[in-house]
Amino acid sequence: MNTPRAPDIDTAWAWLISFVPAQWQPSLGIAAAAAVFLWLLINGLKSVFELFNAIREFFRRGRERRAAAAEVKLPAPRVSIWNPDINSPPRPKPGGIPVITTANMKGGVGKTTFTANFAAYLDAKGKRVLLIDLDYQGSLSQTATAAAGSDKVASVVDDIITLGKSPTVILANAQSLGPVMPRSHILTCYYEFSDTEAHELVNWVVAKRTGQPTDDIRFRMTQFLSDDAVQRNYDVVLIDAPPRFSTGTINALCASTHLVIPTILDRMSVEAVIYFSRDIERMRAKLFPSLKLVGVVPTMVQYKTRLMPAEVSHAATLDRDLAQYWRTDRAVLRDAFVPDKSAFRAIAGSGIGYIDAGKRKYTLEVREIFDRVGKIIAERVRL
Ligand SMILES: Nc1ncnc2c1ncn2[C@@H]1O[C@H](COP(=O)(O)OP(=O)(O)OP(=O)(O)O)[C@@H](O)[C@H]1O
Ligand SMILES: [Mg+2]
Repeated sequence: MNTPRAPDIDTAWAWLISFVPAQWQPSLGIAAAAAVFLWLLINGLKSVFELFNAIREFFRRGRERRAAAAEVKLPAPRVSIWNPDINSPPRPKPGGIPVITTANMKGGVGKTTFTANFAAYLDAKGKRVLLIDLDYQGSLSQTATAAAGSDKVASVVDDIITLGKSPTVILANAQSLGPVMPRSHILTCYYEFSDTEAHELVNWVVAKRTGQPTDDIRFRMTQFLSDDAVQRNYDVVLIDAPPRFSTGTINALCASTHLVIPTILDRMSVEAVIYFSRDIERMRAKLFPSLKLVGVVPTMVQYKTRLMPAEVSHAATLDRDLAQYWRTDRAVLRDAFVPDKSAFRAIAGSGIGYIDAGKRKYTLEVREIFDRVGKIIAERVRL
């Protein structure tokens, strides 16, 4: 007995179209082929879309894992030497010129490079800049004076935090940065300043403990910068601080209207920014209640045109953890990033890239970077 067989596809198709009038049969063939093609196309696109979503989800989870790993747990804060009470403290001059300190607890993150190039940008835009170096290593002093063709680095900032010299006399020691930055001057700093800072601090602490009269060592820079000799002759003051809460750094923060925190976006550097911000928060109410954060400037970023994914994730951690200290959930200035460029390293201590980075091509690259970064910072400070 023959077992019934299923009809093959050709026979089934011939049988199916035998019901259709002959003149419609070719169109039916085309419509059927189009329907099959469309079905395959939709299914193919669906699979591609699902694959794309799976890849995106994989990277999103990776970013979340890295951000969670980067969460910083701070130890309990200690009592700060800088916290004794103050009677009617001097504050930055109301309506005065912007005083911008560049600071971070971490060393080698590009603070001085930022300050020097930002100053050169501002000078090129017609601003009269007073630069103040408070790091006894003198990096800013060497960088800026070398750019202006001089190698004279005396420690003249000492006079700001010791008593006895008037603001006019102190300013007379500021070095001109002409002809390359014709509107700007610098008050330089060198190794002697380390000793001066320690002396002044010890004298102040002893006087406080033994009840002797003393003026407040924390506000000597504030008094100097409030003077007309500074306010009338400059449009802006930029202070480069060392990576610690030294006598100079505390003076700078008390005297400043604004703070810029440059940082590399890696785990250790991000931790340092959080420590730094927490310590600032603890001193803020007494010492610098109106200090504003301009923002965290990402430095030495790996790509030329944007942050790479790991840096984006560290920026997100910083935004999240800094919100409690700075009343903003966008502390990191993502568009004001400074890419890693060997040109910066090559001229460290011997010039300012914005003015001359060795080769014309490199100088143009540095200018492009700091025209972008400088514009963002200047706008935020309303310069
Ligand atoms: N964007 C950059 N690309 C490459 N190198 C850089 C960049 N910025 C800074 N550097 C280099 O990194 C080193 C440290 O920079 P810089 O002195 O500006 O850091 P810093 O934070 O001021 O250091 P310190 O804490 O010692 O004062 C220098 O050699 C500098 O040339
Ligand atoms: Mg420095």
